[in-house]
Amino acid sequence: MSDKSSDNKDAVSYSKDDPYLLTPGPLTTSSSVKKAMLHDYGSRDERFIELNGRICARLLEIAHAGETHVCVPLQGSGTFAVEAMLATMIPVEGKLLNLVNGAYGHRISEICDYLGREYLVHESAENVAIDLASLEKTLVDDKHITHVSIVYCETTSGILNPLEEIAEIVYKHGRALLVDAMSAFGALPVDARKLHFSALAASSNKCLQGVPGMGFCLINSHTLEQCKGNAKSLSLDLYEQALAFRKNGQWRFTPPVHCMLALSQALLELQEEGGVEGRLERYQENCNVLKEGMRALGFRTYLADELQAPIIVTFITPSDNRFSFELFYRLIAEKGFLIYPGKITKADTFRIGCIGDLDADLMRAAIQAIEASLSELGISNS
Ligand SMILES: Cc1ncc(COP(=O)(O)O)c(C=O)c1O
Repeated sequence: MSDKSSDNKDAVSYSKDDPYLLTPGPLTTSSSVKKAMLHDYGSRDERFIELNGRICARLLEIAHAGETHVCVPLQGSGTFAVEAMLATMIPVEGKLLNLVNGAYGHRISEICDYLGREYLVHESAENVAIDLASLEKTLVDDKHITHVSIVYCETTSGILNPLEEIAEIVYKHGRALLVDAMSAFGALPVDARKLHFSALAASSNKCLQGVPGMGFCLINSHTLEQCKGNAKSLSLDLYEQALAFRKNGQWRFTPPVHCMLALSQALLELQEEGGVEGRLERYQENCNVLKEGMRALGFRTYLADELQAPIIVTFITPSDNRFSFELFYRLIAEKGFLIYPGKITKADTFRIGCIGDLDADLMRAAIQAIEASLSELGISNS
């Protein structure tokens, strides 16, 4: 077949001049991940059914969850997967304790408002990890709580929440744990052999380094059996979605075929990198280069180092009145890197991600671009 893009002036072509995305996702992907999408697979095609099975098995393997959990993929962005997890796992008469220290924790509350599920919020400041003692006390005091939710890496600030400790307390008190691992899965460890969780939601386009278009939930198999009818939504019902996969290996509705092809390649590349450990090592190095380079330019990080996940770093906006984030962003973008605005409610900040198909040399190049942009703003040291 011919390439029809050449006579279409609006056609988008991949260029090596695309900017590097120092953002929380979508991220810079490898050219082999992009190329993996250059196929048309039918949704009922055996090749595609086999591909789905392989991807789900691999996602379970990453979390050492093959014996205990099932993987249920879902079309859409990460929020769809989180909403489907809450709708499917929490029965109408259930009550959620939502542990919050950022915007994605608040989003869980917002979803519960839409779903009509009762919840209690347990909030810490955006630069403070969840308070374990008060979590335990709340579970002792409120017997109506059936589920607890936590965001593993709260992308609002980049804070790493103590998932293992939280899971232990929740398990000890006989409640079910629901994890938003969107910006963690693939780089931060999840080991279902030791970590008790009922369900965990993540997506294709963050640390797995695929493209956006699908999320998935890893759900405890026994718990899922009790979830029939919980979701009052046709498309977000993970019980029904899982049932359909079990019957014939097929998606209930049009699958994100190209996204799955990209994810299949991205999962191979994760394996080649040494799995979660290898990826974490690279992200940690990226993060160290970023923090050191930015500090040398006079920037301050929002989080203490011991709370920082190597995913995205929040920096305090300099007080120099020559500094404008919009202009700073544009000057850095002209040099080939996209950064991200802040999302913190109480401090003026911006964020720079260190995930995706980027290495320490690229992070150094980003620091040089930032230094040059600062001097174009007339600021030699913020
Ligand atoms: C922790 C976390 N949860 C949920 C989401 C929502 O994902 P999406 O924007 O793909 O809907 C994000 C997105 O960055 C996230 O970082």
